Amino acid sequence: MKILFATNNKHKLEEVRQIAGSGFEVISLEDVALTGDIPEESDTLEGNALFKARYIFDKTGIPTFADDTGLEVEALNGRPGVYSARYAGPGKNDRKNMQKILKELKNKTNRKARFRTVIAFIPPDGKEIFFEGIVNGTIGTEPRGSYGFGYDPVFLPEGYDLTFAEMAADLKNSISHRSRAFAKFANYLNNNLGREL
Ligand code: IMP
Repeated sequence: MKILFATNNKHKLEEVRQIAGSGFEVISLEDVALTGDIPEESDTLEGNALFKARYIFDKTGIPTFADDTGLEVEALNGRPGVYSARYAGPGKNDRKNMQKILKELKNKTNRKARFRTVIAFIPPDGKEIFFEGIVNGTIGTEPRGSYGFGYDPVFLPEGYDLTFAEMAADLKNSISHRSRAFAKFANYLNNNLGREL
């Protein structure tokens, strides 16, 4: 069974392939020669993931899934959320995005935050199925660590005194929002193998 992951990100593709197991061949946009960026214009993670999956399914007819992730900070009413990648605006980068959050949380005692990943899947019959993965934690007071990417240096997952950027990839991947969402998705695929699909 072939399923298409609407991504050009090789790192994510590898991670999903490992979780999905051998019952599925996970291919990427590169494999179907679709390389342009897919617009992300929704104001929800669900909307963006669904748009990407539907857009590629309509072009290829192959069962397709797409993901979208955001960092949701409680004291900022869930921001940056769906705008996580571009929070600091034009010329943004990971450092500037983190600095903006640290500034906004200065003097705030509530530092609760969570990463949330949403996966939207369009199976052969064209319906829409969603999977969600969440990791709760807090925002530190300064960046720490050099692994990972994005907001990893300022995010401390619940139960650890380490930021994601201080964790080896294996440990982060075993508890991350993304791996939790992908694990649910892989479970769904394996349970439905030979039936719905
Ligand atoms: P995407 O939907 O996976 O592209 O994620 C959107 C943005 O969320 C990224 O550009 C990062 O800023 C942030 N992000 C997503 N996943 C992570 C993570 O595992 N660690 C840190 N930041 C992340």
